[in-house]
Amino acid sequence: MENTTVRTERLELRPVRDEDVDRILEYRNLPQVTRWLLRTQVDSASFRAAWRRAAADPDDHSMAATLDGVVIGTVSLDVVDGMGQPGMPPRTEAELGYIFDPAYGGHGYATEAVTAVVAHAFERLGIRRITAGCFADNLASVRILEKVGMRREQHGVGDSWHAELGWVDGYTYALLADAWHGEAAPSEQPIASAPVPRAR
Ligand SMILES: CC(C)(COP(=O)(O)OP(=O)(O)OC[C@H]1O[C@@H](n2cnc3c(N)ncnc32)[C@H](O)[C@@H]1OP(=O)(O)O)[C@@H](O)C(=O)NCCC(=O)NCCS
Repeated sequence: MENTTVRTERLELRPVRDEDVDRILEYRNLPQVTRWLLRTQVDSASFRAAWRRAAADPDDHSMAATLDGVVIGTVSLDVVDGMGQPGMPPRTEAELGYIFDPAYGGHGYATEAVTAVVAHAFERLGIRRITAGCFADNLASVRILEKVGMRREQHGVGDSWHAELGWVDGYTYALLADAWHGEAAPSEQPIASAPVPRAR
């Protein structure tokens, strides 16, 4: 990933560094956090290795959100190929995810950070479509995606396994660059139905 810094009203977003991993692990495995993640508990060695791989991956634009120098969350953005036939422009789609420390919850920080990463993806990285998935019961996540302006494109009835709840519904959200820039009504855009992985 490139060495980008994005500033918002209250936060600074920058690439995740090796020394951030211990701080992220202070909240990453809390039950109220893992409850809504597909990858629940992570062990510190493989988690650290995954962030090192991310740092070396030019398609990984994940960032740490910092408040007064303290990492309070991460927003992941993985650039991928969309779905299409030969000749399709590569690397035009990005998968979005986010995990924030609940100690800092309820102040709009996650919404602020996710909005900034979406803006960065469309306005700087030239991404044309962003997707994100969540459990339908993850009301805070649904709220963030809808406040960012993403459209619920898929309601998967009973499509997702939850360790405590069993088979539950999942949502897929997406947003096109044209809609972000206000150039076309989202409802006029074709709806793709490829499944997307959920936030890590
Ligand atoms: C989802 C998460 C990032 C939200 O973080 P946050 O700091 O509370 O987010 P924000 O403060 O920006 O606000 C989230 C919105 O959800 C709402 N919200 C928060 N918790 C809620 C709940 N339990 N029920 C309903 N709405 C809720 C907030 O009121 C806010 O909406 P509003 O601005 O209209 O009031 C955080 O809880 C988290 O990391 N959860 C675990 C991991 C996760 O779920 N990641 C996403 C996987 S798809």
